[in-house]
Amino acid sequence: MRDRVRGVKSGGKCVGFVPTMGFLHEGHLSLVRASVRSTDYTVVSIFVNPAQFAPHEDFKDYPRDRERDLELLRSEGVHAVFAPLPDALYPEGHRTYVEVHGLQDRLCGKTRPAFFRGVCTVVLKLFHIVGPDVAFFGQKDAQQSIIIRRMVPELDLDVRIEVCPIVRDDDGLALSSRNAYFDGAQRKAALCLHRSLEMARVKITGGERDAARLIHAIRGDIQAEPRAKIDYVEIVDTKELLPRDTAREGDLIALAVYIDGVRIIDNIII
Ligand code: PAF
Repeated sequence: MRDRVRGVKSGGKCVGFVPTMGFLHEGHLSLVRASVRSTDYTVVSIFVNPAQFAPHEDFKDYPRDRERDLELLRSEGVHAVFAPLPDALYPEGHRTYVEVHGLQDRLCGKTRPAFFRGVCTVVLKLFHIVGPDVAFFGQKDAQQSIIIRRMVPELDLDVRIEVCPIVRDDDGLALSSRNAYFDGAQRKAALCLHRSLEMARVKITGGERDAARLIHAIRGDIQAEPRAKIDYVEIVDTKELLPRDTAREGDLIALAVYIDGVRIIDNIII
């Protein structure tokens, strides 16, 4: 991978990179298209990163379809796919991890304490291997994007981070590889995430700014769905991810909800 990118860069070309865990959907493909459009050479990684799964989570069951992924990437004009085996990135005895203190413990970090340490570690490793000029992430993983944006200058990495908008199905459900776990009824129940966020957006447009009242309204809407169990609903600033008393323009409303035990996330920026 390094040799390939070195060759490309020596010809003065700009390298774009989209890290993924595979089982690609239109959300991933929107990142791929942004890279193909705005850089000369696009690399996509497919790696289900064991370091970002807790022992009780779905690492083994995480959906995978390598052949379909490669076909999709080929048809999008991607130049190279990097798909290492777990042992190649984490050989026996691996001890080095990257942490972004504070930020990694908020929002999703409360229920997934090792998650962002795993994400940051693999993203840093992938950046070192691929050596991109620009890397593309999705706004659906808002906390991940904020943390990576913080890690990059703090570790003096020479890569620009682009964050692309959430891609939704026609009914509003944010695309996620984990949506594959849902049957029809569960998928319908999962619409409560988007619906509650849109309801909050309408309230905000109508002048409501009190964070506690907004959160209460969102929680009430989600709790009306019997299959849903709330992990968190928060309104935070996008720098430190700290809760607001009064919601301001540019703040993040983020939530995580279990639908019959499958945890999914969504968010809006006010
Ligand atoms: O967003 C994801 O799919 C993953 O967290 C990432 C960035 C590919 C790291 O494993």
